[in-house]
Amino acid sequence: MQDLAGKYAFITGASRGIGRAAALALAARGASVAIGYRKEADTAQALVAELDKAGGGGLPVRLDVADPEQREAAFDRVAERFGALDVFVANAAATAFKPLLEVKPHHVQKTFAITVDGFLFGVQRAARLMEGRAGASIVAVSGYDCVRTVPRHGVLGAAKAAMEMLARQYAFELGPRGIRVNCVNFVYADTDSTRFFAGQGHDALQDDMRALTPLRGLASADDVAAAISYLCSDGARFVNGQTIMVDGGVLLTSPAPAHLPPID
Ligand SMILES: NC(=O)c1ccc[n+]([C@@H]2O[C@H](COP(=O)([O-])OP(=O)(O)OC[C@H]3O[C@@H](n4cnc5c(N)ncnc54)[C@H](OP(=O)(O)O)[C@@H]3O)[C@@H](O)[C@H]2O)c1
Repeated sequence: MQDLAGKYAFITGASRGIGRAAALALAARGASVAIGYRKEADTAQALVAELDKAGGGGLPVRLDVADPEQREAAFDRVAERFGALDVFVANAAATAFKPLLEVKPHHVQKTFAITVDGFLFGVQRAARLMEGRAGASIVAVSGYDCVRTVPRHGVLGAAKAAMEMLARQYAFELGPRGIRVNCVNFVYADTDSTRFFAGQGHDALQDDMRALTPLRGLASADDVAAAISYLCSDGARFVNGQTIMVDGGVLLTSPAPAHLPPID
């Protein structure tokens, strides 16, 4: 299905993980995708070669979203090469995983600069490039740490909560221009980030997640990418200001399941 042929997308933090999967999903539908990468130009270039094969083609764009000058330069490059934008996916994230009592001011500043400033100011530039484009869509990649407590996720969860509220406000402000703004949220997908966070406990974490999830499985990066891709499709043309949760139902799970009769 080439329903995004002739459309232009820009994804931050796209050289690996969820961003990479989203880039492949959009390119498979015919979109040309600008791949935001921070350091690894070779990895981004290799992905662009894959996107060419997938159908849509791509453009590597160096971008540390926390750096205002790089943000401007990156959108200038996208504007110069694409001339317009139909999809913007704010996916990049990083934080120092710490209990709140150990957090230093620079941890907060960096986390919020990436997640909040990166989204707020990225959308300002993206919206200008989306003027007059039919079906324009902006997607913020969020995380369940903004709706449930998670050890050492306090600052990132607060930044994601701010980002989700900004997305709703943007949906309200940009709707009259035909630009939709939504979030995709999820609990777990196997990426570098989760492996780093869980360390040696990663296999045990996966077992816990499977057991707690009503669908008895784990989301893949492709599952999350599919939700991002849906929000950029004509099928989602009236979906605006929403958060789609791709979690197999895990957030419905009771906090004390061990004391309840098992269902299987
Ligand atoms: N994986 C999960 O279970 C999970 C759960 C909930 C939410 N999420 C969210 O999903 C999104 C993607 O996560 P992931 O699991 O794919 O993580 P990942 O594998 O660690 O990838 C993170 C991406 O963000 C980029 N990035 C980090 N800091 C950046 C910066 N300052 N400027 C630009 N790019 C930067 C990284 O680029 P480099 O390669 O250059 O470092 C990388 O491409 C994030 O928003 C994360 O919070 C993930």
